[in-house]
Amino acid sequence: MPARLISLEGGERSGKSTQLALLSAHLQGRGVPFVLTREPGGTPFGERLREVLLAPDLGPVTPFAEMVAFAASRAEVVARVIRPALDRGDIVIADRYVDSSRAYQGFGLGVPLADIDLVNSAATGGLLPDLTLLFDVDPAVAAGRAPERGNDRIEARDGGFHARVRAGYLELAAREPARYRVLDGRRPAQELAADVASAVDACIAGR
Ligand code: TYD
Repeated sequence: MPARLISLEGGERSGKSTQLALLSAHLQGRGVPFVLTREPGGTPFGERLREVLLAPDLGPVTPFAEMVAFAASRAEVVARVIRPALDRGDIVIADRYVDSSRAYQGFGLGVPLADIDLVNSAATGGLLPDLTLLFDVDPAVAAGRAPERGNDRIEARDGGFHARVRAGYLELAAREPARYRVLDGRRPAQELAADVASAVDACIAGR
């Protein structure tokens, strides 16, 4: 089995968590060894940063500082979890990765993409996903769905922020069509899961 890094991306309530669970079941069913990571988090240091970054009562944070803190969590999970797993030849399924910083801190908050890419390329040693699945939903539609994990500081930002995040993701996907697979998050979960499974299976098979 070849090592692969596959990231899942999307705005709030895009159905990403449901699809992550269905994809895990699919890979388990196929007997494919894989490792799951989430960001921010995935390591003791990252989970502490996550508490800070998502705390609803934190108050204003400078966008650049926020971007660097997400990158710190990422540096830790890459060094301690993702790289070792890839070195063993495992598949890594990342619940968010660098594109979250580009979409949220870049398009959402206005941090220059060049700064984000510079910091993140240093933080990850330039490691990019082989495949990125983007669950695309209009934030106005997603807002009517039940929250996936309760309210957090970033989810609580206004509609304009979430609209910029969505448009940013779509622009990133258009720039790198070979890496991205854009999925319509309004489709029924089982239908979406079948597309996710076939995209992941093809990536693992090197197609
Ligand atoms: P989480 O509860 O994991 O949300 P979700 O289920 O939507 O993935 O919270 C992660 C939040 O952090 C989410 O609002 C996206 C945001 N985020 C960034 O703003 N930048 C980043 O680099 C990452 C990894 C996440």
